[in-house]
Amino acid sequence: MEKTVQMYEGKAKKVFATDDKRFCIVSYKDDATAFNGQKKGTIMGKGAINNRVTNHLMKLLEKNGIPTHFVEELSDRETVVKKVSIVPLEVIVRNIAAGSLAKRLGLEEGTKMKRTVLEYCYKDDELGDPMVNEYHILAMEYATKEELDLIAQYSLKVNQVLTDYLKDANIELIDFKLEFGKTEDGTIVLADEISPDTCRFWDSVSGEKLDKDRFRRDLGGVEDAYNEILKRLLGE
Ligand code: C5P
Repeated sequence: MEKTVQMYEGKAKKVFATDDKRFCIVSYKDDATAFNGQKKGTIMGKGAINNRVTNHLMKLLEKNGIPTHFVEELSDRETVVKKVSIVPLEVIVRNIAAGSLAKRLGLEEGTKMKRTVLEYCYKDDELGDPMVNEYHILAMEYATKEELDLIAQYSLKVNQVLTDYLKDANIELIDFKLEFGKTEDGTIVLADEISPDTCRFWDSVSGEKLDKDRFRRDLGGVEDAYNEILKRLLGE
């Protein structure tokens, strides 16, 4: 399969069309941004780590019955994925209060939620990805009721599978963000990435942050944290 034109360049990835219209090639970059692009930097080796961690977790999720866009890892940074139209929602799943939830509700970071919290944000950089609820989503036709129910069901299942899997690697899954896409025949599949850029991973013994919060909050040891996740999940 050959790359043809670049379809999209985002903050952390480029997406290319291919000579087979059913597939795209994603290429992961080392560029890092935070706070809706206000903070910019580079995390050396991040692209390759996020590509490999994402593919590893996508395969695990497929095995557990969640359809994903993953097709084949081409190289350290490049992966073939199914071509989808992205549902314009970020689905945030939270087990432990951190980040914007801790701030919004006045909770101490690390407070365990009594049950899993699902949030939706409308994907729009200019608007700063505003939080929306099911009524907004249906009224704005970002997704149908059936699609949204399936997205919620898949998101909770992803949480269960990843939480259990990461526990064995001494990683606590605090929260994460998912995106879904629709293939040409209308099937909803998990898309985008699952990586230290999009998840909060805390060491389950020391509580140390092993994710992008090290970059967002200038905590230092950013590359080490990403490498530690790669090592714990893929044994490298
Ligand atoms: O910032 P906030 O606390 O709302 O983030 C919740 C989770 O969603 C974090 O794991 C964060 O990495 C992820 N997230 C993301 N992309 C965004 C917003 C949040 O990956 N645009």
